[in-house]
Amino acid sequence: MVTMPLVPIQNILDGGFEGKQVDIRGWVYRKRESKDIIFVVIRDATGVMQCTIRKNSPAWAEAQKMTIESSVTLNGTVRKDERAPGGFEVSTNQLEIVGLAEPFPITKDQSEEFRRNVRHLWLRSQRMNNIMKIRSHVLNFVHEFFRRRNFIEVSPPMFISSAVEGGATLFGVKYFEQDLFLTQSAQLHLEGLISSLEKVYCVAPSFRAEKSRTIRHLAEYWHVEAEQAFATMDDLMRLEEDLVGYVFQKVAKQCRKELDSLKVEAKKLAAVKPPFSRITYDEAIDRLHRRKFKIKWGEDFGFDEERALAKEFGNPLFVYAYPKEIKAFYCKMYKDNPELVMSVDLIVPKIGELATGGSRIDDKDELLNRLGEFGLKEEDYDWYIDLRRYGTTPHVGFGLGVERLLAWMLDLENVMDTIPFPRTIRRFHP
Ligand code: 4AD
Ligand code: MG
Repeated sequence: MVTMPLVPIQNILDGGFEGKQVDIRGWVYRKRESKDIIFVVIRDATGVMQCTIRKNSPAWAEAQKMTIESSVTLNGTVRKDERAPGGFEVSTNQLEIVGLAEPFPITKDQSEEFRRNVRHLWLRSQRMNNIMKIRSHVLNFVHEFFRRRNFIEVSPPMFISSAVEGGATLFGVKYFEQDLFLTQSAQLHLEGLISSLEKVYCVAPSFRAEKSRTIRHLAEYWHVEAEQAFATMDDLMRLEEDLVGYVFQKVAKQCRKELDSLKVEAKKLAAVKPPFSRITYDEAIDRLHRRKFKIKWGEDFGFDEERALAKEFGNPLFVYAYPKEIKAFYCKMYKDNPELVMSVDLIVPKIGELATGGSRIDDKDELLNRLGEFGLKEEDYDWYIDLRRYGTTPHVGFGLGVERLLAWMLDLENVMDTIPFPRTIRRFHP
């Protein structure tokens, strides 16, 4: 039946089709029926359009059969109508049901839990449609940012043979005859690439066997990671804040429709711009003590401490120079204070830690020492040690969680709602 040009709904809403005949296709979003007129709202990837079918139209019989979420194609004339959502409606002449839907299990007022259980269907909601679009834009802006700065995109392995971030969250996998792990971070492999490419980045999945259920932990998440040769902590913090600022500015400008639909103020996003504050771990502890937190020097911050710090600053905040005991084996120590390491967390409102980065140990003996102190086997890291043997350089890098960035940006309750098919300890289906 497709005879007219097929028009994406958003194009019709943008104007210019008034009085014209169009074909649209999509899914039945809403339907309301009275004696001699049926109102149906059709959604496609781009938007929703009210369509009317009158009793004298040849489409009437088919329209009566149409159920919520049936897929349809229809042909009709575009009319201006103030009462229709978006200001236009299509007066329908022809209608074809492509796939008649059974009664749709999602209705109004169901719990978040239920919606997550039927995520494959909930993805059709306007809410998820908009979140997924912004997610796509965010990823695009991340790539744009790094490419503009001449970082080379690289593709790290997902199967790894030794831990990056400590054994507690490692997923083991059977790999032919051996036991391997799913990667927790591409960092070590990115370090292997900088002696060739100098500045590299990747956007790839990372896997963590996180047993705790929180609003910011997934078992599988998307990780933006970068590594840069011959660079300092200062370079690193500037790179991170520039990236976050760039993405927020771009989304604020280019995703207005989606932001509006999610009731997120573009103005708030546009206010996220560098420079972000920088405080040391020591200063963070002092500030927390002033707020009556019981945390002792040497302990890591929890969610509550991070949120309190972020709230105090009201903006993203770098905390750097951590006690070496609470950071990973690869963190470089300060020359004048070897109890502290050059590690930096970027802490943001609502979600707490958004990124961790730092300066990596570049001296072979120092690395061997630290591996020993962590009880890690030299042979498991032989290639990583090699990097310090052949033309080592001071270097820095960081990793940032895409889902945390989105949850913060869009003020969502849980990182689960930023990824199409979330994976947590209890959730791996659909
Ligand atoms: O702090 P993490 O563990 O640091 C690293 O993996 C470094 N090797 C990164 C690097 O320097 N290249 O993880 C980095 C970020 C966290 O700050 C957080 O945003 C995110 O990854 N992240 C998670 N996001 C969702 N679910 C989880 N379970 C996450 N674990 C970490
Ligand atoms: Mg971290």
